Amino acid sequence: MQEVKEQRKAKEKEARKEKQELRRKEQMHKLQLLTEEERENLKKQAQALLQERRGQHASKRSKLEHAQQHGPDLVIDLDFEGLMSGSELKHLCQQLCYSYSANGRVANPCHLHLVGFKGDVKEAAERQINGLPNWVVTKTQDSLLHHFSQRKDKLVYLTADSETELDVLDASSIYVIGGLVDHNRYKGLCQQRAQEAGISTARLPIKKFVELESRAVLTVNHVVQIMVEMFNRQDWKAVLDDVLPPRKRAGYHAAKTESKMRRKGGEDGCRVDVISDPTPCRTIREDVAEVEEVDAAEVIDEAAKVVDNK
Ligand SMILES: C[S@@+](CC[C@H](N)C(=O)[O-])C[C@H]1O[C@@H](n2cnc3c(N)ncnc32)[C@H](O)[C@@H]1O
Repeated sequence: MQEVKEQRKAKEKEARKEKQELRRKEQMHKLQLLTEEERENLKKQAQALLQERRGQHASKRSKLEHAQQHGPDLVIDLDFEGLMSGSELKHLCQQLCYSYSANGRVANPCHLHLVGFKGDVKEAAERQINGLPNWVVTKTQDSLLHHFSQRKDKLVYLTADSETELDVLDASSIYVIGGLVDHNRYKGLCQQRAQEAGISTARLPIKKFVELESRAVLTVNHVVQIMVEMFNRQDWKAVLDDVLPPRKRAGYHAAKTESKMRRKGGEDGCRVDVISDPTPCRTIREDVAEVEEVDAAEVIDEAAKVVDNK
């Protein structure tokens, strides 16, 4: 089973590579057809774009550096050694990327801490996340309690299992998110850990503002995004509406089934207009592209060089 999966992945990777190569060749061909003047213009455009991207990247970094001194603390607790499978660790790393990206997108980011960054999580993250050494975050192998030993009374562990509902955010509190992808295998784990450690807990006020199809247990990146957006917008309804994925909303699956049936011609075989699904969230590509924006800029740089040498 695992072997078949790996073969399929290798095939898909190969197909992607071929497609990229084809695209590159097409672009080179197009470049060769340009006049000297057109190439010069293209080079100028590429360089201007590169400058712009570098500028954006620098201002994002300085915003994040400022947040490390003055921003509210937001913690991802990664101290769940040995509780996740290989593919869950992979998903966790992806979620860390989206979380970092979400924090960099807001005007006033949080000071992001990765605590308990060690063992299998550290290994997976260092293998999987290219730009990790350049991230503007505080990473420590220390446990949550050790890292914040002087401010334990300020810790608020976020968990869907808490009795307390969050209301107004307090910038002096240290909100903690469990860095766990468990498909609900360890239900109540974060609540139990926090309770045992004498840390207060809170759940997001999701049910108050939106109707969900399933239990309101969200992924790490969605909780991070909700928190950073909330610190900037102070409007639960608007933030939850923007961040919660359509597939979590009540009625989404029913609408989808209906939409599919209509596409197929409906129950009675008549073709009717397709209902459009709710607005999709940002795509993974958009998020990753943003995390790796410097690489994208380097690509443009390369394009400028190619144009230059033609
Ligand atoms: C996938 S959940 C992990 C679920 C895990 N079984 C637990 O015990 O919390 C990842 C993290 O997101 C946060 N989280 C998810 N849904 C939440 C909610 N409705 N309210 C507050 N925090 C939530 C929690 O910090 C949680 O540890």
